[in-house]
Amino acid sequence: MSFRQIYSFAWSLTGFLWFLFTITTMPSSTSAQESDNIDVPPLPTGPRLRTIGTNIPRIVSRNGAASLTLAEPLAIGIATHTNFHQEPAYQTVAAREYDVITPENDMKMGPLVPNQRGSYDFTAADEHVRFAEAHGMQVHGHTLVWHQQLPDWLQPSLSPAELRSVLQEHIRTVVSHYGDRVAVWDVVNEAIADSPVLFFGSPMRSTIWSRAIPDYVDLAFFTAREANPSAILLLNDYSVEEVNSKSNRMYNLVAGMVRRGVPIDGVGFQGHLRANGLNYCSMANNMQRFADLGLDIYITELDVRLSLGRNGDISPFQSQRQADIYRNVMRVCLEQPACKSVQTWGMTDLHSWIPSFAPGFGSALPFDENLAAKPAYYAMQSAMLEQRTPDDVCAGQDDSMNFLESLFGGIASFFF
Ligand code: G3I
Repeated sequence: MSFRQIYSFAWSLTGFLWFLFTITTMPSSTSAQESDNIDVPPLPTGPRLRTIGTNIPRIVSRNGAASLTLAEPLAIGIATHTNFHQEPAYQTVAAREYDVITPENDMKMGPLVPNQRGSYDFTAADEHVRFAEAHGMQVHGHTLVWHQQLPDWLQPSLSPAELRSVLQEHIRTVVSHYGDRVAVWDVVNEAIADSPVLFFGSPMRSTIWSRAIPDYVDLAFFTAREANPSAILLLNDYSVEEVNSKSNRMYNLVAGMVRRGVPIDGVGFQGHLRANGLNYCSMANNMQRFADLGLDIYITELDVRLSLGRNGDISPFQSQRQADIYRNVMRVCLEQPACKSVQTWGMTDLHSWIPSFAPGFGSALPFDENLAAKPAYYAMQSAMLEQRTPDDVCAGQDDSMNFLESLFGGIASFFF
């Protein structure tokens, strides 16, 4: 075993043992406070993420090949929740730190056209776009076609022809409403099956769209391109960050789209992570194969959930582990010129989806409930600032090591 492998294994083992020790000595965290009654948020020290990201050296190394430094932007963003525009302190931090925002829910089909076909209400979604434009930020539109948060009037009883018409009408209406005010679109979200039925099942998730319109993904991208010739069009999904069976299915779908001339510009890796992080070498290789198709990669929904203590708090070890994960994801993206942005799914733990989705877990984002920057924020900042010698994240990695690291990390992640 190489030193790196021994070090890596020791790190995982130590982390797991340290967790066992720290579970009874957790510090009390500050109590949650509605961000709208925080007058002046505790602003982070050091340069703003959006400033560093504007023109950043991209240190690229591949399997020991000569390094290449490219100075090009890396967008840093957040998902913005409904009514965020009513929270002055939240807005202060968001505008200071980020250059792209994604409406977390307000641009989805259900919220946009809730009551009857053709009757759109853009009020809430427009607030996100207005805020972005007021602060020189980009808008990442989310999402034109998904199987969740659909309006009640959209029923599977509609005929395939009607569903095809609904899908195209929705994309045309929303993309045309915003035009170039929305620069990037998650055209189709979560189209890939998590685990196909046995080995010969369809690679595609079974949804109201896929069951009625076998070519709905191609149709959605052609329709979006027709509605906006210049927007960046992405296919977005989760658990596809590393080379694995699901990302293989995504790769095969996307490679076929490229072969067919479907107007796709990139893929979104959502990045909803746990405390065992990722195999960063596998993530780098995964990014590279999509880049080799001529596509860009966006980290679209990054968060790192932690197992909360009895009082809803986390240990210093957990906080540091989370920061390391944020740092490593940033570094993998920085070393891949085709990786264009890192966006977290929310900014502050106060508005994260995690506690309602995964009870007992939380503290997933770079800012705490009081809008104070956490070690995760500073890890993102330092990853962007560090002038490192090129560090090939795959150096010394082999499958046995990956297995052990993910084994210990996987077990540990059930607890922290
Ligand atoms: O707006 C209604 C409100 O009127 C009602 O009183 C309340 C109680 O039922 O529900 C509110 O809607 C909720 C909505 O969030 C807005 O808060 C929905 O119930 C709830 O299901 C919805 O959850 C969102 C989830 O997508 C829906 O699947 C989460 O906030 C959002 O963070 C999450 O985001 C998704 C991405 O779009 C795609 N990738 C995965 C990610 C996490 O699931």
